[in-house]
Amino acid sequence: MINILIADDEESVCSALSDLLQDDEHYHCDVATNGQEATRLLESNHYQILITDLKMPVMDGDRLIASVRERDKDISIIIITAFYSEDNAIQNINQFQISGYIKKPFKLNEVANQVEKVAINIELQRQEQSYRRKLEKQLQYQKKELERKSNAYVLELIQSLNNTLESKDRYTYGHSIRVSRFSRLLLLDAKIEIEDPKNFFYAAMLHDIGKIGISDSILNKPDKLTDAEFDVIKSHPVEATKILRNISNIEYIKKVIRHHHERFDGKGYPDKLIGEAIPVESRIISIVDTFDALISDRPYRKGKTFEEAVQIIKANLRTQFDPKLGEIFIEVTVKNFSFINSILKDFDHRVFINY
Ligand SMILES: [Fe+2]
Repeated sequence: MINILIADDEESVCSALSDLLQDDEHYHCDVATNGQEATRLLESNHYQILITDLKMPVMDGDRLIASVRERDKDISIIIITAFYSEDNAIQNINQFQISGYIKKPFKLNEVANQVEKVAINIELQRQEQSYRRKLEKQLQYQKKELERKSNAYVLELIQSLNNTLESKDRYTYGHSIRVSRFSRLLLLDAKIEIEDPKNFFYAAMLHDIGKIGISDSILNKPDKLTDAEFDVIKSHPVEATKILRNISNIEYIKKVIRHHHERFDGKGYPDKLIGEAIPVESRIISIVDTFDALISDRPYRKGKTFEEAVQIIKANLRTQFDPKLGEIFIEVTVKNFSFINSILKDFDHRVFINY
């Protein structure tokens, strides 16, 4: 149904047009005898077509058209006037996108034809809009599907890299996944906002990937490392950025990984960043990474208990760790003790992080 507003000070014109157009199937008509009345109706109803005279009392058609067009760029406007001038008509048509211009006295079929033309146009526009909406929906679905597939692919790729690392460094089995899951728990539970949650979890999973480039004899040495060997270990955040250098658009991931061994007091590596100059994501990973290392068994020592690990994190707030994030971490860990325990018992390598 198309709603039509007819504005004309001659009541006979209004009723003739209304009688001509009004039907139960296609058109509903309202009438107004001046621009002000028409404006009121336009404010409270939605019309697709305005048929208006130009010379009317109270508010003339020119002012009505200007104010309508300001509010509604889609309404189709047909002018019917006795004061026709070609210059005026051309100016109006260009300025206000007028769909039809009819001279009085007019023939009824002239108006009927003009309205039908406009109605066909409106229908075409409706169809085009609905087609566009469908197309947009379809594209959105395809985009999401592509994103989902590429996320799954990226995760598999990351997992393969981790498998490579874990086959070299047998003491860190499952460490990357646990760090990413603990980090996720921390973010969700404490409602910490970060720039890019999805890529943050990728970074958490890949944080030690630089160790791939370190020799097995250093990585698996059961005794205390020499200073020179420790320097080699310390190169792994920078090595990670080298391993990932050919992958484009992952600057965020590289940045988070590079700084995961910085310390809050500036005594970390590789860049000795201090406090909040360290990316917040790296500060989070630093805490979670240490916690997981503390509670994990090593060949030369048994893993600490949760309580012991929490105490060690607490003792190193402000020096090694961001104190605010550390407090949050302790609170969340204590609160989710049994859940974290279940992650430890239950984790496997096929875990998929749905974020
Ligand atoms: Fe590390």
